[in-house]
Amino acid sequence: MSKTLQAIRGMNDILPAQTPAWRYLEGTFAELLDSYGYSEIRLPIVEYTELFARGIGEGTDVVDKEMYTFLDRNEESLTLRPEGTAGCVRAVLEHGLSGGGQVQKLWYMGPMFRYEKPQKGRYRQFHQIGVEVFNQPGPDIDAELIILTARLWKQLGMADAVTLQLNSLGSSEDRARYRDALVEYLKARFEQLDEDSQRRLTTNPLRILDSKNAQTQALLADAPTLADYLDDESRAHFEGLKARLDAVGIAYEINPKLVRGLDYYGRTVFEWVTDKLGAQGTVCAGGRYDGLVAQFGGKPTPGVGFAMGVERLVLLLETLGLVPAELSRAPHAYICAFGEAAELAALQLSERLRDTLPGLRVLVNAGAGSFKSQFKKADKSGAHFALILGEDELAQRVVGVKPLRDDSEQQSIGWDALAGHLAASLQLRA
Ligand code: HAM
Repeated sequence: MSKTLQAIRGMNDILPAQTPAWRYLEGTFAELLDSYGYSEIRLPIVEYTELFARGIGEGTDVVDKEMYTFLDRNEESLTLRPEGTAGCVRAVLEHGLSGGGQVQKLWYMGPMFRYEKPQKGRYRQFHQIGVEVFNQPGPDIDAELIILTARLWKQLGMADAVTLQLNSLGSSEDRARYRDALVEYLKARFEQLDEDSQRRLTTNPLRILDSKNAQTQALLADAPTLADYLDDESRAHFEGLKARLDAVGIAYEINPKLVRGLDYYGRTVFEWVTDKLGAQGTVCAGGRYDGLVAQFGGKPTPGVGFAMGVERLVLLLETLGLVPAELSRAPHAYICAFGEAAELAALQLSERLRDTLPGLRVLVNAGAGSFKSQFKKADKSGAHFALILGEDELAQRVVGVKPLRDDSEQQSIGWDALAGHLAASLQLRA
């Protein structure tokens, strides 16, 4: 016997039991973004490898270790996108969307791919909902991004389960000066660093700040801090952001070690984290990347954005019991037809119902069956009503409407009155 085929490790099926929570999350977010004036952009899943190597940066884990890269039939190096920002910037530039200082407020959602070690909340194919804004240099837009995510948590009922961490990475000059100071400090303590951090000291020293190694963390306690290296403008930007968050009552924690794993950030960076999901607790993360557009060959254009991990948010909704029960897609009505003539009538009736009540979910029993077996199926479908069509009902042009979720009596309703009856009982709009 041949081996049963399986999905690739870390790439998940999203089964029918979970899709309602996904649609709920995506729908809530899309509506919220509409209300703040953001437009959706849909981007390719595959891009030239160079885009990510240049955008995210050589020396980052994502580029060095995690990309799904392959040669296509034309021997060109392509990569499954590990994130959405680089592709979005590419598209904005390619189509001139940010030209002349135009403000663009964009959002996207879809699958991303990283070759990471799969565990709860960390997958090789995962989904992000992301937002990117161009040509808005001030802290007001950084604040708006954070404020709208806070509103999302509130709408989903999870505001108490997430906290906001904030930091400023300053300008690239600030970071260069700080990097030198940090490297000098750590070089003198090289032997005490963990192996990963020793390697990072030459490739990406700032990433040492978020090392999980306890001894390295202890060493960092007396290390120079980035906050002391910020220039006046970066400092004012950060103060401006904090003042706005204070004004609308959004609590935050300044985390001087928050440096993020992608190279394009400068000034504001932030993460929303939860302690309810174990090790993979960052549900939303982002920051400012004012240098990226120019790095791709465009005119200097401020950019800022974030992305949230959909799997993690769905997990959080489930963990906290926040998936609304009414998301069930159970049918409203299940038609049981007995005999050939009744089956045809059932088909006509169901189509008429769909014409009048577009929101109605109605199933027609497929294939014959005894009264008992059809009823069992109707009940198992979760429907509110079984609609019964037999010879007698056909002759009288009525339907037996049997409530399946409570003890109320079966009623006989004329065909012309059926849509009105269902609309009233199910509170559906015609
Ligand atoms: P990121 O921090 O790499 O940022 O990812 C954003 C979010 O995606 C994470 O906080 C997490 O919720 C989710 N995520 C990342 N990797 C995985 C994974 N392997 N499995 C499950 N979820 C994951 C970015 O991607 C930036 N492009 C965000 C951004 C947009 N910055 C500015 N604009």
